[in-house]
Amino acid sequence: MHLGDLMAEAQGHEHAPLAVSKVASDSRKVERGTLFFAVPGTKVDGMSFVPQAVTAGAVAIVGEAERPSDLPGQVAYVRVSDVRRALALAAARFYPKQPEKVVAVTGTSGKSSVADFTRQLFAHLGYKSASVGTLGIITSDGAAYGSLTTPDPISLHESFDRLANDGVTRLAMEASSHGIDQRRLDGVRLQAAGFTNLGRDHLDYHATTEAYAKAKMRLFDTLLPGDAPAIINVDGPYADVFLDGVRHRGLKLFTTGSMGETIRLVEVRAEEFTQVLTVEAFGTTVRTTLPLLGAFQVENALVAAGLVLAVEGEGRAAEVLEGFKTLKGVSGRLEQVGEVDGAICIVDYAHKPDALAHVLDALRPFVKGRLVCVVGCGGDRDRGKRPLMGRIASEKADLVIVTDDNPRSEDPAAIRAEVMKGAPGAREIGDRAEAIRTAVNELRDGDILVVAGKGHETGQIIGDRTLPFSDHDEVRAAIAERQG
Ligand SMILES: Nc1ncnc2c1ncn2[C@@H]1O[C@H](COP(=O)(O)OP(=O)(O)OP(=O)(O)O)[C@@H](O)[C@H]1O
Ligand SMILES: [Mg+2]
Repeated sequence: MHLGDLMAEAQGHEHAPLAVSKVASDSRKVERGTLFFAVPGTKVDGMSFVPQAVTAGAVAIVGEAERPSDLPGQVAYVRVSDVRRALALAAARFYPKQPEKVVAVTGTSGKSSVADFTRQLFAHLGYKSASVGTLGIITSDGAAYGSLTTPDPISLHESFDRLANDGVTRLAMEASSHGIDQRRLDGVRLQAAGFTNLGRDHLDYHATTEAYAKAKMRLFDTLLPGDAPAIINVDGPYADVFLDGVRHRGLKLFTTGSMGETIRLVEVRAEEFTQVLTVEAFGTTVRTTLPLLGAFQVENALVAAGLVLAVEGEGRAAEVLEGFKTLKGVSGRLEQVGEVDGAICIVDYAHKPDALAHVLDALRPFVKGRLVCVVGCGGDRDRGKRPLMGRIASEKADLVIVTDDNPRSEDPAAIRAEVMKGAPGAREIGDRAEAIRTAVNELRDGDILVVAGKGHETGQIIGDRTLPFSDHDEVRAAIAERQG
């Protein structure tokens, strides 16, 4: 490929016909013939790696600064105003194939769940589908595509190209506010986008809730093409801000939820561990069952249905809603891990105030005895959420044990003290395994225990070391110990 094919900014440039064999933003990955993007980072500026990239064989450099005076004459330099965006667009041209229909979802919580449900619903309609997000790349036929935990645009588009070549025609992706803000989705050809909710989250990265909302809004006001529908869960907080934005731009709008107009939840009834739903979709009333706990899973499923119907057409509404019956929850999201003497133990990934509140609210209707919560907060992250998490736990659960959850470089006792400030009646047990064991030992018939924070994760980060730790394993071991 030529430089001019990869970048609009290089068209007409004297170096436009230059052959490029690779694109990279990491100087260690540069080889002969590479087009190197000097991305300004929060800690280091990519421009400082230009000499390294040139030594490794870079033939052209893209940056926001002026051409470095010591750059060898034969190396092309393209100056752009937004190098991250240029990188995303070039990656999409370098790896040109994408699944035929790509949809994205944003929001503070529910992104992974919605992306996963969307993939399952596409598969239910008979399409080879995939989802991409914090859980990695998952395909409907179980093929492995690596973890993609930090999906930089290059690995993202390389994966999309591979998925498309393997016959995947439908893809649902999780759009985090970091990802949107850092232009990682700018080369993705989106056909619909959904919004779940907005709450306090990542405020260490985005200084204010407003900046955070704006980052997510970019999915609708910039990334989504003008003819692609937006799906908004109107039951979630801040839905009005997104509704205004979408209406202002004149996008086709699907609203979902109990106050939704396109896909409306008419009635929901809990039946054992399933929920029986009456839904009015595009004017037709359908009864279906969702084999998952929690009102928020209904919201997520409706957003997923909206995404699928936005690209497949409303004629398939009954079929999609029928597909709810087969939906499986994402691992570590309200996952029932074990039962002991009439009490159930649940592991959930909730590590943000909103998510914790939703999880506890979601379980409450199923609690016959007490709701027990084991919870902690991570170190080196938004400190403001610690007393909030404590308060939510103590207000919504009957028994709270505050413990450690990835203290990182901070003093774990100091983190716990901040959580305890919001939860004066709580017990404090720093050792997470012991906290779980204590909780399990005290369970009585009809109680529900929720161990919050880690979900599917398998480590406890202390200092700069990650020690193996699994809430699932600890819960199972504690149950075995109690029964043994
Ligand atoms: N619609 C929702 N409203 C509130 N809480 C939710 C919702 N959906 C999921 N949750 C809860 O939020 C947590 C995270 O869910 P999920 O992984 O689907 O969200 P996410 O947006 O992908 O999160 P992350 O930003 O960490 O990737 C879980 O504890 C889950 O139970
Ligand atoms: Mg996620």
